[in-house]
Amino acid sequence: MQEVVLVTGASSGVGEALAPMLAQRGYRVYGMSRRSVELAGVTALPADVSDAEGLQAAIEQLIQEAGRLDAVLHCAGIGGAGPVEQMPTERARRIMDTNFWGSWNLAQATLPYLRKSPRGRLLFVGSIAGFMGIPFRAAYCASKAAVKTMSDSLRMEVQGSNLQVTTVAPGDIATNSIATQYRQPTEEIDPLYRDRYRKFDDGMANNVEHGMTAEYVAESIYTIMNKDTLKPYYAIGEFVQKASVKASRILPGSLWEKVLGKYYS
Ligand SMILES: NC(=O)c1ccc[n+]([C@@H]2O[C@H](COP(=O)([O-])OP(=O)(O)OC[C@H]3O[C@@H](n4cnc5c(N)ncnc54)[C@H](OP(=O)(O)O)[C@@H]3O)[C@@H](O)[C@H]2O)c1
Repeated sequence: MQEVVLVTGASSGVGEALAPMLAQRGYRVYGMSRRSVELAGVTALPADVSDAEGLQAAIEQLIQEAGRLDAVLHCAGIGGAGPVEQMPTERARRIMDTNFWGSWNLAQATLPYLRKSPRGRLLFVGSIAGFMGIPFRAAYCASKAAVKTMSDSLRMEVQGSNLQVTTVAPGDIATNSIATQYRQPTEEIDPLYRDRYRKFDDGMANNVEHGMTAEYVAESIYTIMNKDTLKPYYAIGEFVQKASVKASRILPGSLWEKVLGKYYS
């Protein structure tokens, strides 16, 4: 029986690499994003994950056409930068709406079908940034932490069913995300923050530019989705980024902040 997989974020980056890869490997693949996609072997399913009703309608269309849903690989997400004190709240809210409420909406719309699959899988793409606070990325870090926590709750709620839930938390990935996300212009930033903001923001952009390829992350997600038993989360990235998840918990807070500051300097 051909498994049916929904890949969100299919119009760019990880989702765009993952969806045709799965189609090529024999899955029936639906690709969701606000922009419609034209990818080999992938059926476009345009929807905004922050719009619960529109998303629900898209999932019903998928079920009408395909009759089942076996895996959801939720790659859609947005970033954003600015100091808490000054970043326009609307920008921060949009990050939460897309990353956290989008994941919530997607879970609510797809769980009834995923639970019917003999081997259901729900993978949220979070971020290593969801395990720690990074300066001037507060809304993004908070949204990814919220996704991870929701994923932890949900995986326990569905225990005893055929469905498994996990978070895949990558480090930096060389995609368009940094170019397309909102980064508050330096001129708007209070002099108190300006130099450090510029330093952290440049450091982040540089790390993303030299990050993993989207194809590498897509391949990792493919490996994870095919494991018999999923762990609560998977960190993906270079050693220092994966180690940062553990270090942020083990090191005393003041020492950890120094380490993080050095990483972005
Ligand atoms: N790039 C990194 O360094 C990095 C690091 C760690 C984690 N991540 C996470 O990994 C995932 C993939 O990142 P990426 O770098 O591949 O991002 P990307 O290239 O910017 O692609 C983001 C995708 O999400 C879709 N999207 C955004 N808002 C949406 C919405 N409201 N509804 C539906 N789709 C929406 C976009 O499509 P439309 O614009 O067409 O809707 C696009 O297809 C994201 O969750 C990101 O937070 C990225």
